[in-house]
Amino acid sequence: MQIIQKYFIKTFGCQMNYSDSEKLSAVLESLQLEQVDSVEEADLVIFNTCSIKQHAEDRVFGHVNNAKKLGKIVAITGCMIRNTSTLKDLQKIRSLEDNNKKLEKLEKIDDILKRIEKNKSVDFVFRIEDMKNLPEILVEYDSEIKRPNFEKIKKFDSLENFDYLNISPKLTEKYRATVPIMTGCDKFCTYCIVPFARGKERSRKFEDILKECENHVKNGVIEITLVGQNVNAYFLDDTNKKTLQRQTDFSYLLDTVAKISGLKRLQFTSPHPRHMGEDMIEVIAKHKKISRCIHLPVQSGSSRILQKMGREHNIGRYIDFIEKLQKAVPDMMITTDIIVGFCSETDEDFQKTIDLFENQNFLMAFISKYSARKGTVSAEKMIDDVSDETKKTRLEILTKYLEKSVQKLNKNLIGKIESVLVDTVDFNEKKNKYIAKGRSHTGRTVLCEVGERGKAFIGKIILVKIIDFQKFSVFGELV
Ligand code: SAH
Ligand code: SF4
Ligand code: F3S
Repeated sequence: MQIIQKYFIKTFGCQMNYSDSEKLSAVLESLQLEQVDSVEEADLVIFNTCSIKQHAEDRVFGHVNNAKKLGKIVAITGCMIRNTSTLKDLQKIRSLEDNNKKLEKLEKIDDILKRIEKNKSVDFVFRIEDMKNLPEILVEYDSEIKRPNFEKIKKFDSLENFDYLNISPKLTEKYRATVPIMTGCDKFCTYCIVPFARGKERSRKFEDILKECENHVKNGVIEITLVGQNVNAYFLDDTNKKTLQRQTDFSYLLDTVAKISGLKRLQFTSPHPRHMGEDMIEVIAKHKKISRCIHLPVQSGSSRILQKMGREHNIGRYIDFIEKLQKAVPDMMITTDIIVGFCSETDEDFQKTIDLFENQNFLMAFISKYSARKGTVSAEKMIDDVSDETKKTRLEILTKYLEKSVQKLNKNLIGKIESVLVDTVDFNEKKNKYIAKGRSHTGRTVLCEVGERGKAFIGKIILVKIIDFQKFSVFGELV
């Protein structure tokens, strides 16, 4: 009898990882495995990991040990399995029978891989882009596993030329799809592990992206999110460049995808401030279906710190772009990422981040304490001299400023009508009513009482008149 019948994927990190997990599911389902919602129910547990901060990696080990205690076959993939390691190296550590001998051979591999190898709870690891090799690995644990029907999943490639980005995903929700347009990063911001974890920047073929988007829409998807570590660093091959006229490659792609009829919403994450151009503003303004909330990670309000971070954008240019964007699209909301306590950040530098928050009114900000990542320039060549206590205080202070700006923005929304794509509908016993929850076109989390039809609203766009707001969400009534 087949030992591995049910699988569970635990995903950490950014949207790119969530997108990868949907592809991983497609590969596993081609082996006739069934997806379950918990470690307990599964035979095979795969952790799709994130390395962005040290504690992101640390907490994976707790989950891994727990899964092993429950007797599961445990695998790790994602950003902890660095792209800089060769597949041969990884095959060496796939099976863990003879740890010591293998450790000697592993000297050149990343520390994290050594740590994984030492951990007896991990059965095997694989790089995310090698997910097509999973069947061969799994056969070692279960000889009954059948060769997959690759025809089913390799939608757009020949097998020799198999790019995992082209695997047709198993969508988590049938009305929403996340479509990768590029992966990897060549920017090497001094603090960031992503270029090591995901490897060199590469873009997917324009035709493949378009075909996938069209396919999704044909199958009932109404919202598409284009994802990549730097979506606006997207580049076209020469054949497509000819049709480009004056748009940059990403604007051209965005413009083309937005034209798919039947698609109701289009968003993208993350763009890099360095590549923001006027043509992008034009495309966004032209297509009402493109989200009126854009995530534009700034990292710091101090141009001195930005330079040390190797960001290649300064605050002046950042603000200038937002002003131009909001002039063209007045209801445009901005969200951002901030790192507090980067090497040498003074009170004066931090004050500049506060100033930015006071002037810009961000709708959301993901604020992180700087975490030194081995191998990066800031970890090797700079001093992590801001104490953890100061980092914590700065994070708390900035969160207060964020709350203030969100309140202001949400207060302005009262009386206005938002279009909301409903994700969940729950029955509220106290109110004896169904409450729908979803994201609005301007990036708000909206709650709204819906009538008797209840769950029928899931995956639908509704119009909601906003009547009240809380910390990070707004309430409204069905129009
Ligand atoms: N490509 C995106 C960011 C991807 S990483 C960009 O360039 O904007 C997601 C976020 O994690 C970053 O925006 C940053 O705020 C945070 N981050 C990355 N490395 C970090 C580190 N070493 N310590 C703390 N936060 C970090
Ligand atoms: Fe990391 Fe910078 Fe690349 Fe973003 S642009 S993924 S922060 S190296
Ligand atoms: Fe984390 Fe990898 Fe994304 S390190 S943030 S999962 S690219």
